[in-house]
Amino acid sequence: MAAALERLGDMTGFRCVDVGAGGGDVSVALAELCGERGRIYAVDIDPVRRNQIATRAARFSQVIALTQAAEELTLPEPVDLAFCRFLLLAVHEPGLVVERMVAATRSGGWVIIQEPITSAGRIGRTPLSMEAPGVTDPDIGATVLELLSCPGVEIREAWVESPAGIGDSAVAHYLEAMSDSLVTDEQIVLPPLLTAIAKVL
Ligand SMILES: C[S@@+](CC[C@H](N)C(=O)[O-])C[C@H]1O[C@@H](n2cnc3c(N)ncnc32)[C@H](O)[C@@H]1O
Repeated sequence: MAAALERLGDMTGFRCVDVGAGGGDVSVALAELCGERGRIYAVDIDPVRRNQIATRAARFSQVIALTQAAEELTLPEPVDLAFCRFLLLAVHEPGLVVERMVAATRSGGWVIIQEPITSAGRIGRTPLSMEAPGVTDPDIGATVLELLSCPGVEIREAWVESPAGIGDSAVAHYLEAMSDSLVTDEQIVLPPLLTAIAKVL
């Protein structure tokens, strides 16, 4: 996330939306970058998340938590940045969500999407796919650029990151925490995360 946000330069005073904000990690990072003059709309479909985010971001008055479906994203003002991470893999209409994110962004503003290609992860030679409840497309990262290829949007940069390790490594600990299972001594390649940065014209 940090590498993507760095590309935008000084974000002081930015209006942002974090769509599918979850526990609020991204919203808090955005609040730190945008400062007190910024505003961060932390949007999630799950009402329980609103309280979690409010608690997590209590020291940032610029974070506003909203219960809203991404497919119906409606904000009180256009934003400079619409961001989502690990959201599109869970929705039924990712194209519509991208459309709403673009529509919520002012002309000259940015859309950043970070989504995984889970079946490209590996434990040893075994694919590490994330066929989990609530996941509609575990490989959504493979189509993000296609989803962003719409009129009025220019993809400026895109890349894929995939941390790897073997034995008692940071990725082994991460996977243990995520999957609640003990990891082997085999080589682990975490599911690649595709990041796309697009400018709204
Ligand atoms: C895996 S979490 C990601 C949290 C956060 N973006 C992050 O990267 O830490 C996905 C979040 O998306 C939310 N979500 C799922 N479908 C949604 C939808 N249609 N509209 C808005 N939020 C949604 C879920 O409630 C959940 O909090």
